[in-house]
Parts: sequence; C-alpha cells; structure tokens
Amino acid sequence: MTMTRLTTETDLLTSHSAFRTPNSIRPRRLRLNPAMRAMVRETQLAPDDFIYPLFVVHGSHVQNEIGSMPGVYQWSIDNLAREAESIAKLNIPAVILFGIPAEKDPVGLENFASDGIVQQAVRAIKNAVPEMVVVTDVCLCEYTDHGHCGVLNTGNGSRPHPHLPEGYVLNDQTLDVLAEVAVSHAEAGADIVAPSGMIDGMVAAIRAGLDANRFEHIPILSYAIKYASGFYGPFREAAQGAPKFGDRKTHQMDPANAREALREAALDVNEGADLLMVKPALPYLDIIRQTRDQFPQLPLAAYNVSGEYAMVKAAARNGWIDEERVVLELLTGIKRAGADLIITYHAKDAAQWIK
Ligand code: PBG
Repeated sequence: MTMTRLTTETDLLTSHSAFRTPNSIRPRRLRLNPAMRAMVRETQLAPDDFIYPLFVVHGSHVQNEIGSMPGVYQWSIDNLAREAESIAKLNIPAVILFGIPAEKDPVGLENFASDGIVQQAVRAIKNAVPEMVVVTDVCLCEYTDHGHCGVLNTGNGSRPHPHLPEGYVLNDQTLDVLAEVAVSHAEAGADIVAPSGMIDGMVAAIRAGLDANRFEHIPILSYAIKYASGFYGPFREAAQGAPKFGDRKTHQMDPANAREALREAALDVNEGADLLMVKPALPYLDIIRQTRDQFPQLPLAAYNVSGEYAMVKAAARNGWIDEERVVLELLTGIKRAGADLIITYHAKDAAQWIK
C-alpha cells in the first residue's frame, strides 16, 4: 500500500483513502437521513411517559410562579380544572400533587384532613378530568412546622425514644401518620399514592392501612431509592417544605451508594410496592439502569427533580443552551437508562415538542 501525500484540497477530495477498512463496517450508513435514523431509533419519548407535578395552595385566583422554576406555578383549587384540562389535552395521563397547608404543626394535621389542600385538589381534578391519573405525594415535610418528613423525637426531658437524639425523625410513629395520610388521599379519590419520606417500612404500613379501609385496589408508587440531594432546593421553595434545622441524611440515601439502592428497592418490592422510583434522575442514571435490570417485573419511574429543571431553565434563559434540544435529550437519556415513567416539570413543553 502506498500512501499519497496530499498537497491540495483537490487532492484530498479526489483521492481514495489509504485507510479504507477491508470489511467496510460503516455505522454512518444508517444515519444518512432523518427517515433512516427514525427507523433504527431505539428509544422513543411519548407524552404518556410523563407525570406532571402540581403545587396546590389555599386561596382563590392564585397562580404564583416559582422564582427558581420559571413556568412552574402554585395553583389555587379554582384554577386546577383549567390546568388539568390543558395537561390532558397534551395527552399527559398523570399528575402528582404537592400541597401547601394553611397551617403547620408538629405532626401536620392538615395532611390527613378530609378538607386538606391535597384532598380538595384531588376532588377538583377528578371532577374536571375523570380519566386523569392522580398521584399524591405522601410525606410530612410540607405539613410539619419543623419541616421534617416525620414525627420528631422531642420533648423536655421525656423524649418518646430515650436512646435516640433530640430531633431525630422517629420511624415507627411516622408510619402511623403515613398510613393515615394515604387512606385520606384514597378517600378523596387519588388513583396512586406515592410515599416519599424514605421511612423504613413505609410501603408495608401504607399497604396495610389502605387494605384495612377497602382500598386494596390502590397502587403504591414508592420513592424507594431517594438520595439526600442538593437538587431539591427549588422544590423546597415551591412546596415550602425545607427543614427548619438539620437535614434529611438520617433517612434519605447517601449519593455515594449504589449497592444500598438495590437493597432499598428489594425491601419495597417485598412490602408490596407496585411501582418503584429513583430520585433524582440525572446524577443517578446508573442507579436507574441497575434497578431496571434487577427488578424487571416492576414499572420504574424516575424523578427529574426541581434542581435539574432549574439548571436547564437558567442556562436556556441565558442563551447558553437550546432548551428544546437539551430537554428532549435528557428525557431520552432517562428513558434509555431504563425508566418507564418520568416525573418532570418539563412534561408540558416536552409533550408539545414531541408532537
Ligand atoms: C418530599 C419531597 C421532596 C421532593 C419530592 N417529594 C423534597 C425533599 O425530599 O426534600 C423533591 C422534588 C423536587 O425537587 O422536584 N415531600
């Protein structure tokens, strides 16, 4: 084989490369045009992959944009019917609800009140769009005055648990409240309950509570693998659920751990979870993939959380990235990693772009 010395551009364009591969494997053949690329595309996004989060507040005529989450609002109940209709029109089948109560207290009483904010929201949405799948987040943090996801070990001199520190999120006392909340959501008409507190035994407790109240048909979407993440920052502004002191590291997972994630998922599967979730999504695509492979029988959701959304919106607003392209790329990545369902604040935009 002789090698031609290229001296001009014409030489380059007319020469046959000396490096032609003998068996001529050329992946580029299948990338020649849009039709060919569409034929061999392995992952397809569709609006029915999405669950759209909604924040609901007391009052009327409220549509408050969240500062750190452009395009995401806190809604009052009277605005929900219209919003639910616009979501349904985009063929998005499901929403997940987060409520901001009128008042907060140590246990979070409004969380399981029949006229609580989420209970009202469920009824309003089911009334306006009966076929909409309404998922409710089951946790204490938005409802408690201390902002923690459970009942606290606190009391002057007489803490409920003598051997655990002051302010510790008590496990088993919290389970009773979670079961109560899940039942009240089901009574209001919720289609799926989604416990998000990473309290040990939460799925079993909620299953037992639902079954004892004739809600044996209501599925549990467990936030089985939820990391103690900095990416929840904007959500805590939207849902007003930031802890008043300390953090969530005694119950949410250490971002460094992957094997432990499979242990968490296995426990929830045993307790009867119907769907599993990994949260956040983008820094944990490996966890999504491993969970998909280890638990192929269960549908898997991933939560593309508030901080992930905020970063994309901020960069797009600065003109630093092409928002549509980046959003569709990252949602495709989450699905390719193994998620069947994606909870995402981009859902409405993405559904429009896919069309
Ligand atoms: C807890 C809950 C949180 C999120 C969903 N459910 C906050 C937390 O664990 O601190 C975060 C979602 C997001 O950041 O988009 N109720």
